[in-house]
Amino acid sequence: MIKADGKVFILNTKNTTYAFRVMETGQLEHLYYGRLIHEDEPSVLNEKRAFAPGNTVTYNPEHPELTLEDVRLETSAIGKGDFREPMVEVICADGSSTLDFVYDSYQVINCKPELQGLPSSYDEDDNAKTLEVTLKDKNHGFKLILSYSIFEECDVITRSARFVNSSEESVKLTRMLSMVLDYDKPGMKITSFHGSWTREMNKADVVLTAGKLVNSSFTGTSSNRCNPFFMVSEADTTETDGDVWGFNLVYSGNHYSASEVSPWGKTRVAYGINPQNFSWTLEAGEEFQAPEAVITYSGDGYRQMSLNMHDFVREHITRGTWKYKERPILINSWEASYFDFTDKSLVKLAKVAKDTGVELFVMDDGWFGERNDDKRALGDWDIVNKKKLPGGLEGLAKKINDLGLMFGLWVEPEMINVDSELYRKHPDWAIDIPGMDHAEGRNQRLLDLCNPEVVDYMIEAMSEVFATPGLSYIKWDMNRNFSDYYSKYLPAEKQQEVSHRYVLGFYRLLRTLAEKFPDILMEGCASGGNRFDLGALCYYPQIWASDNTDAVSRLTIQNGYSYAYPQSTYTAHVSACPNHQTLRVTPIESRFAVASFGVLGYELNLNDAKAEDIASVKAQIELYKKYRKTLQFGDFYRLKNGNIVEWSIVDKNKNTAVTMLMQREIMAGEQYLRIDQAGLDNDSKYHFFGRKLEYNLKGFGDLVNTVAPVHIKQDGVLHNVIAKFVKMPGESEDFVASGDTLNNVGVKLAQSFVGTGYNEQVRYFPDFGARLYFAEKI
Ligand code: DGJ
Repeated sequence: MIKADGKVFILNTKNTTYAFRVMETGQLEHLYYGRLIHEDEPSVLNEKRAFAPGNTVTYNPEHPELTLEDVRLETSAIGKGDFREPMVEVICADGSSTLDFVYDSYQVINCKPELQGLPSSYDEDDNAKTLEVTLKDKNHGFKLILSYSIFEECDVITRSARFVNSSEESVKLTRMLSMVLDYDKPGMKITSFHGSWTREMNKADVVLTAGKLVNSSFTGTSSNRCNPFFMVSEADTTETDGDVWGFNLVYSGNHYSASEVSPWGKTRVAYGINPQNFSWTLEAGEEFQAPEAVITYSGDGYRQMSLNMHDFVREHITRGTWKYKERPILINSWEASYFDFTDKSLVKLAKVAKDTGVELFVMDDGWFGERNDDKRALGDWDIVNKKKLPGGLEGLAKKINDLGLMFGLWVEPEMINVDSELYRKHPDWAIDIPGMDHAEGRNQRLLDLCNPEVVDYMIEAMSEVFATPGLSYIKWDMNRNFSDYYSKYLPAEKQQEVSHRYVLGFYRLLRTLAEKFPDILMEGCASGGNRFDLGALCYYPQIWASDNTDAVSRLTIQNGYSYAYPQSTYTAHVSACPNHQTLRVTPIESRFAVASFGVLGYELNLNDAKAEDIASVKAQIELYKKYRKTLQFGDFYRLKNGNIVEWSIVDKNKNTAVTMLMQREIMAGEQYLRIDQAGLDNDSKYHFFGRKLEYNLKGFGDLVNTVAPVHIKQDGVLHNVIAKFVKMPGESEDFVASGDTLNNVGVKLAQSFVGTGYNEQVRYFPDFGARLYFAEKI
């Protein structure tokens, strides 16, 4: 609900209130953002001012009590005494930079409008409402339009801003963020998510009592260095208790968030496009649209904040055919054979995969030009490598389809190798600076998507590929960070527009293809999670979360994503061991347990796999299909995150829960484990049970001799033969309990093995052991 009267603005969602007002001097003062309040007299929220302290700059002689440096503001610029992070910065035609935005008008729109040129949230049911407040710069007449859209059901407000050059002269924007939000206290905890290739989404907390903390990316993408999502909370907020505000940005380029504590203990958050190496010239009448920021508040800790974000992303960001459609279980050829394949070897892999229950076969990199390594051929999408694929894409697609599998393909449309036919024809289409040495990244360069001709060409080239008969899936990769920022298409004075123009070009390319091929399932990828953001998720319903498929690493990575993104958006594969990124060996059941808490796939050479592993894969897929809807679209709960990691997913009707428990490292003597549950219906009864498995006898080493009638040499022939026929039974967990018992007490599990015997009441739980449990409403 939006209450607006041109003086006070109150935005209520189901459980939250956001309020601001117009000050006497015209600026917008932020009043409150938190738990829902029903205030008829909003002036009680106003801050009281009788004097401006010390050497502050006072706004004007009529208002000696007012210094903008100590007001919580809805927007801010430089030059009028607010020394904190601004939202907007300009260089005017006369060289000055001072702006003074004051209230002009407002309108309430009964929908969620699209943003010009940028992806944004949407509301199919038209329940969302939008408040647009227009501010006018007192001196030049520029307009700043602040938009607030409310999504009541998921307690989300989105904000964006448009700068309109309504003056007679040109102006250069040097910073145009999407929002600022001011809190009335210091000591807030800022939580952000950092990493690098194969190490995405590591959570980092900083309690900010003074100074400034910046989380930003400058890779040209939203980046694996620092995801755009972050949280602000009280220092003692927990998973289930306390205030937390979550922030995300619908943008795939360089982002920026700065949190700053003012000298009077107010914390400002400024958020949007990274102003580093950014400027944008607006001629008279032109405007600039900043991307949409998404914010949610929860008074009940991180869990509820995540549930709000998940609902919002599922319902108002992802879209199209695959929005709520169960995602197919795929096998990807990359870690199975890298560049070294033929159509015969692929079909052989596809056959075994089909037998295990896989539904989609994906041919990854290496199918075009002379692409036998990562040094050449990017750009040559029209030249299928006939040595590898004599029947072309269509021929292979048919063979795969004939096996009863969907067919999918890898592409990297935004890139070009110098050693490619495309580069030889169009060297000017690559991003590099003429006459200067160029830095390299995976031997490839970015295509200049600032140039509309390049985007048009790529739409055409990709349309040909996407139109391959029998193609159902595309993996859209992007493996290059920006360097040597320069577009030969743009004049010298517009070179600081390159990174944003590139992103706009990328969106046009992606949007056109998504609209042309609505049934193709597109999966995003950027060396794994180098472009995992809400902008990309407007077009790809799922993204390859990390090139790291190691189950233990994935605990951290997927746990990190879970704060902001629902599990239907991040894909996870069971791969070979030793793992190709870490060389760690983990049980195949643990790899499955972790991968099934993202969108499950497989990425290993099943032709070389042991019969025992093939049997495991078959059983895993059968189980996953049974619980797929819950696993992909249910509510995700983080229940433990230490040496033991526990996640649970509960379907929206609270009928079924699937819970995963994994141990990083065995702690001798710590045999008691409790599994926690959450989100079940308190008033219902549930059948709770664990997945019953059998274990390889060899996991017990020479302890076999404590029960064997004859001596068995560890790893000897006899040991190997016996291990083939004798399996160790896993423990059983099976009983009925009420939802409130499970939610509040949890379940005490069978003891773990600690060296004093083993039977069906004991859990075999070595390093990297994992379990799956189920609760089904009776
Ligand atoms: C990087 C991706 O993240 C991998 O999964 C794989 O597709 C390679 N690129 C192929 O070059």
